[in-house]
Amino acid sequence: MRRQVVIIGGGPSGLLLSQLLHRDGIETIVLERRSRDYVLGRIRAGVLEWGSVEMLRTAGVDGRMNDQGLVHGGTYLAARNRGFRIDFEARVGRKVMVYGQTEVTADLYAARDAMGGEIIHEAEGVAPHGLDTAAPWVSYVKDGTEHRIDCDYVVGCDGFHGVSRGCIPESVRTEYERIYPFGWLGILSEVPPVSHELIYANHPRGFALCSMRNPQLSRHYIQVGLDEKAEAWSDDAFWDELRRRIPQDAADTLVTGPSIEKSIAPLRSFVCEPIRWGRLFLVGDAAHIVPPTGAKGLNLAISDVHYLWQGLRARYGDGEEEGLARYSERALARVWKSVRFSWSMTTLLHHFPEQGAFGQRIQDADLAYLEQSEAAQTALAENYVGLPF
Ligand code: APR
Ligand code: PHB
Repeated sequence: MRRQVVIIGGGPSGLLLSQLLHRDGIETIVLERRSRDYVLGRIRAGVLEWGSVEMLRTAGVDGRMNDQGLVHGGTYLAARNRGFRIDFEARVGRKVMVYGQTEVTADLYAARDAMGGEIIHEAEGVAPHGLDTAAPWVSYVKDGTEHRIDCDYVVGCDGFHGVSRGCIPESVRTEYERIYPFGWLGILSEVPPVSHELIYANHPRGFALCSMRNPQLSRHYIQVGLDEKAEAWSDDAFWDELRRRIPQDAADTLVTGPSIEKSIAPLRSFVCEPIRWGRLFLVGDAAHIVPPTGAKGLNLAISDVHYLWQGLRARYGDGEEEGLARYSERALARVWKSVRFSWSMTTLLHHFPEQGAFGQRIQDADLAYLEQSEAAQTALAENYVGLPF
């Protein structure tokens, strides 16, 4: 078998790239090691930069998002149970879209099916070969049968624990990492959101975030220690702790209910350089990880897809190779600015074990400055709504 581009990973980045390339007449095949149900069962963040919204519209997968997505013109930050709003529209004239990543992935699968896109689920032992030659190929096993796909390019959209990043020789690869000394305990509950926009709260007891999926489905998080287990937290214990950390007016009106999902996610910042080696390109979580504080994970995956899509369509269009040659440089330039922003939001809003009373006062002052300074709010808004591609 031969295809122009083999994409490893059927998450949002792999599906979006295959959709965009297919619309340009470029052959792709997606190799996903899990079942579709498994992929669609993942609960992930839900804030889209407007650039991501426009990319999904370009890919023709924005129908449900337009109907069900929630357009937010701002967000709330809070210090010591008192909130204030950052007005994105007033500061930078842009908004964000709240629409769950699970929904984005489902919309992408539906679009791929509608176009007859090739997706192999439960593909085992996916292995790229000949990446440093002009004739790469990928092998995999499906239902016990070994397959080979010859191609021009291989794209690793296989997430942080995928196979592709390790194909770049260690002598070539540099990895940058920061592990945060806490996690996020998240709860999904069929109760109305506590606020019409998100609330990011700093508190001496720890960070809290009030988010949503739709007017009847809330998503909340509290910072917890790395040694904690989700099953050790009853729903009541979660709601009580959330109330202690969020603005008082929100705590007074919070509607609680049973959790339909409860889990703890660790926080890390990670960047691999380069994200191209020979005929291999890394995209999304395969290349970088950000703490969810800035809601950048999915948006950075879409950002990488933008740069690689542009490079591949130029290569297959008029033969121009500069886009591919500069993919790593261009994508990583934007990645690092989002990694910085996500790190800065995490540092601003979380209680670090070693920070002490002085560190808490610095965070309080930082938030007080943000509340009073249009310049500071503009800088935060510019990064939150998404820097230009
Ligand atoms: N072979 C085939 N598929 C693989 C392999 C492999 N060896 N390893 C991983 N995969 C698949 C996973 O099962 C997953 O479906 O690759 C996909 C990677 O998807 P994501 O992890 O969602 O990564 P990405 O598409 O880059 O999207 C990034 O999704 O995970 C969130 O927080 C992340 O918001 C960010 C966004
Ligand atoms: C979410 O809704 O899950 C969410 C929103 C914003 C974040 C992180 C997670 O920064």
